[in-house]
Amino acid sequence: MQINPYLFILPRTPGQIVWDYKNHKQYELDLEHSIRLAELINKPNRFNNKNSIDMQLLEAGILTTATPSAIEWGWDDLSKIFHIGTKNIPCQHTPQDIHEWSREYLNHCSEVLATPIPDTRLAERLADELITLPKPSWLPESTLANTLIDRKTCRTFTGDTLSFEAVSTLLYLSLGYLREREDDIDESIAEGLDARRTSPSGGGLNACEGFLLVQNVSGLKPGLYAYHPTEHALSFVNPLPCRPLGQLLCGQHFINNLPVGLFITSRFDKLWWKYEHSRAYRMAYVEAGHISQTFQLVATALGLNTWLTGALTDDRVETLLGLNDSPEQPLFFVGCGKSDGEALCKELKALLSRQDSQS
Ligand SMILES: Cc1cc2nc3c(=O)[nH]c(=O)nc-3n(C[C@H](O)[C@H](O)[C@H](O)COP(=O)(O)O)c2cc1C
Repeated sequence: MQINPYLFILPRTPGQIVWDYKNHKQYELDLEHSIRLAELINKPNRFNNKNSIDMQLLEAGILTTATPSAIEWGWDDLSKIFHIGTKNIPCQHTPQDIHEWSREYLNHCSEVLATPIPDTRLAERLADELITLPKPSWLPESTLANTLIDRKTCRTFTGDTLSFEAVSTLLYLSLGYLREREDDIDESIAEGLDARRTSPSGGGLNACEGFLLVQNVSGLKPGLYAYHPTEHALSFVNPLPCRPLGQLLCGQHFINNLPVGLFITSRFDKLWWKYEHSRAYRMAYVEAGHISQTFQLVATALGLNTWLTGALTDDRVETLLGLNDSPEQPLFFVGCGKSDGEALCKELKALLSRQDSQS
């Protein structure tokens, strides 16, 4: 008999909360159950199948007969609990198509909007005098300013083919190691940490990596590819899954015909190698955010529209990328393609206009 290794225990008078953070289950134990669990943690071989509490703990999965698979985790338990505890969140139902997604999303928005909106920001409430800033002066030729202004999240894509060159540009300017910066290296930088990208990187580690999802790119067969930033090259990982892309992204089916996307991953092992404290875990997401924004700006400058999400169906995405139980973990998805520029998919728009006409 073993204790489930994915538990944490919170004191909450009069009992204690036992949280199975991998399977997203919580139990409230009274004193008697708490004492027995403490005894079994101390000596698991004292498990007695005639003892009703022992059997309850086993049925709840707090005790287990299975040999738990060990995952590699180089930081303290805090980030491990958070990372695993926020993965594969049980979803009562994943929308199977765009109509179902639209109905569920609209219901969710109506429920949220029926509750009070959060208070204004503290700094806003405390500000007693505002210093008006001068009118923004555009950058020379204003190309960057225009790209920044033009970037927007779209939820309808035409599915048109993207050129191999456009995809190459997107990858090089988002994740590639810049050949242009090879000579611009400070001598104080440790060997092996001198590669530079267009986005900054925590500790210069370039912990973020990317997997390209190809649905419709000229010259590239559909599938998942690993991007290699040193060589600026791709390697084939897996064919596309049989199920539509939306199933991988928690039922957001409006992006099913997105021609190309990028799963942004983070090499936690690189981060915990340099930074022992799990505060570095936060940096993984900050860095992924930089890469995502850069990708979107490059795509916008190429005349494409973009979409992004952190709502990954984690276990399926990990399997597709070949990353199960790996210290490299998928964090975010960003995609692009030709679009009519609409922020809402037509199915959701139709529901909204039906709702308006009924009210
Ligand atoms: C961290 C993050 C997560 C997001 N997740 C989703 C998502 O799951 N689905 C979606 O349609 N949009 C998602 N978005 C896009 C936002 O809804 C969008 O950025 C926001 O509505 C503002 O619109 P804009 O991007 O056009 O300025 C996400 C954006 C961010 C920054």
